Amino acid sequence: MLSGIVACVFDAYGTLFDLDKIASVARDALGDREKPLSQLWRAKQLEYSWLRSLMGRHADFWHVTGESLDYALASLGIDDPSLRAKLMEAYLSPPAFDDVTSTLKSLRTAEFKLTILSNGSPTMLTSAIKGANLNDLLDKPLSVETVGVFKPHPSVYRLATDAFDCQPTQIAFISSNGWDIAGASAFGFQTVWVNRRKAPREILPAGPHNEITTLAELTGLLQR
Ligand code: LAC
Repeated sequence: MLSGIVACVFDAYGTLFDLDKIASVARDALGDREKPLSQLWRAKQLEYSWLRSLMGRHADFWHVTGESLDYALASLGIDDPSLRAKLMEAYLSPPAFDDVTSTLKSLRTAEFKLTILSNGSPTMLTSAIKGANLNDLLDKPLSVETVGVFKPHPSVYRLATDAFDCQPTQIAFISSNGWDIAGASAFGFQTVWVNRRKAPREILPAGPHNEITTLAELTGLLQR
């Protein structure tokens, strides 16, 4: 049980929005390369975000998402600008996981403040929220663009305590990304890892306080 919670702060990609479905818009063209492309795209997107942060060469997540897609396409030997455009467009309205709307509704009813804290640029996040019909359920998203460095830099997590004018322990941070949970726990949030794929725990300096396999389990965990 997490108690004393003021706000629930969610990671976006992989937590609320299902990245595995994005490449399916190009299933006909990709065939059996759909899954390898999707996995490499995501892995490179994260790697490039961390490398840019370490290099002090920030660019927004839209730019990083495009460059990582270019790498993934090149490594699979695909040179097709219209396919690239189609995949990037799909990234603007990724489908939400099935359990997202009902979970957010019940948390709203329980009067928790709800928002997203994500690497995504404001344009990407606004578009994803609108596309999944979550406008009425979430406050304005918090984007790393305000601080110009990617998660898991502590200054990103501080955006949430600043937004809600509270202590880190009053925030429940929910992510399916183990590395993001490590950063959030290290910052001092109370964390919930949505381990949808039943992956092993990351071996990093801070770990999740709670672990669930579907978002629906969240409502029973939180107390104001
Ligand atoms: C996010 C990605 C990294 O911040 O999952 O939404």
